[in-house]
Amino acid sequence: MPSGQYKLEAANKAEDEIMSIQAPKGCRDIFAEEAKAVRYLEEQFSQLAEVYGFKEIRLPTFEHTELFLRGVGEQTDIVSKEMYSFTDKGGRSITLRPEGTAGVVRAYLEHGLAAEPSPLKLYYMINAFRYERPQKGRYREFQQFGMELFGSENPAAEADILSFLDSYFKRLGLKDCELVLNSIGCAECRPAFHAELQSYLRKEKDRLCPDCAERMERNPLRCLDCKLDSCQSVLADAPVPVDKLCPSCAEHYAEVKELLNALKIPYREDPKLVRGLDYYTRTVFEFHADGIGAQSAICGGGRYDSLVSSLGGPETPAVGFAFGVERLRMELEAKGIELPELLKPRLQIISFPETRAESLALAKELRAAGIYLECDLMGRSFKAQMKQANRLAAEYILIYGESELGANELKLRRMSDGEELLVARAALKDFLSQ
Ligand code: HAM
Repeated sequence: MPSGQYKLEAANKAEDEIMSIQAPKGCRDIFAEEAKAVRYLEEQFSQLAEVYGFKEIRLPTFEHTELFLRGVGEQTDIVSKEMYSFTDKGGRSITLRPEGTAGVVRAYLEHGLAAEPSPLKLYYMINAFRYERPQKGRYREFQQFGMELFGSENPAAEADILSFLDSYFKRLGLKDCELVLNSIGCAECRPAFHAELQSYLRKEKDRLCPDCAERMERNPLRCLDCKLDSCQSVLADAPVPVDKLCPSCAEHYAEVKELLNALKIPYREDPKLVRGLDYYTRTVFEFHADGIGAQSAICGGGRYDSLVSSLGGPETPAVGFAFGVERLRMELEAKGIELPELLKPRLQIISFPETRAESLALAKELRAAGIYLECDLMGRSFKAQMKQANRLAAEYILIYGESELGANELKLRRMSDGEELLVARAALKDFLSQ
């Protein structure tokens, strides 16, 4: 629609209707303090990721819907209930990414990265979209930071990314996130296990919740982590995958645990942990936090040795994780862990109509040297500008009056004690950079 026409229609709407426009349900605006905290989390994440030899990948926000159908799995809640899908003007079915792994695998295949030396290690910081019932810690648009490691079937791959997560959480000051671990087997041992679990569940069908009664036939594994007490009591004696692993899965799992012990990374085994995405094989894990209520899973991941080949690539073992940035922030807040504060301005320049141009030129010069300062853009009175300086808690103020025009020395007032300091104009940059 041409913008003129849009404006006309908007103008014709009742004023209160226009005023009531709100962000879509489950979406959030992120303001200064939180944006700064997220930026800090990003910096720490990317710095440590690079130290671990991971390279960044930036992905499209949307992909062909088919990627998620085949990648995440048609039977999963994410695909069957939670995707933001639409048909674009070219008639293609497009989906806003509900997670990052499928997109990374698509890029891995599209760009022939399988030909690169193994392991190939990628990290990403994305927003993701899921049509879920919003609640504390659960949004329809949220942020994930994640890593994917391709080409190693060795348990050292799991150890490497869990070592990264342990270090990252500790670097932020989080000491008590609990790592929960399980193995769900591979294409070899899973069919027999599925059949055994299914026959157990069929006998108990009447006592299962409607979701589990349905899942039981197409994806029985998912019944194991149903959150309802009624289902959990039915499942108390259900077979669990970790007891039915084939010898090579059992050996793999034992080695993962040995490596975690060697790295002194504590974990709790939960034989019913199965995760909500279909691509996992062998190791699965989550990190849980106790400070953020019901949505306690901060991070989830695991091994997915069949995903690359199921999307048309060569057999390629892989392992990865993603954590929710909002949940991580909530946990940091709940634990009283303070992230670096917003910068306070070093200087506030108080100006007058006749000195405005020169004070703006000085501000430009100091800002080019990286000095954070504020100056008046409102044509405020002297009194109002002083009030503003107090509100912003600027460290120094510089009253730029007529006598400062072209002066070689400028008088700064230190706001903490009112002391006045004469600083040569030429030395101002160095003085404020200290
Ligand atoms: P996921 O468990 O679906 O795994 O999501 C990972 C994390 O994203 C969760 O632990 C949670 O912190 C956060 N999260 C998920 N949904 C929401 C939501 N609606 N609102 C806020 N935060 C949310 C994956 O996405 C896999 N791709 C992880 C992975 C990577 N596995 C292997 N590689």
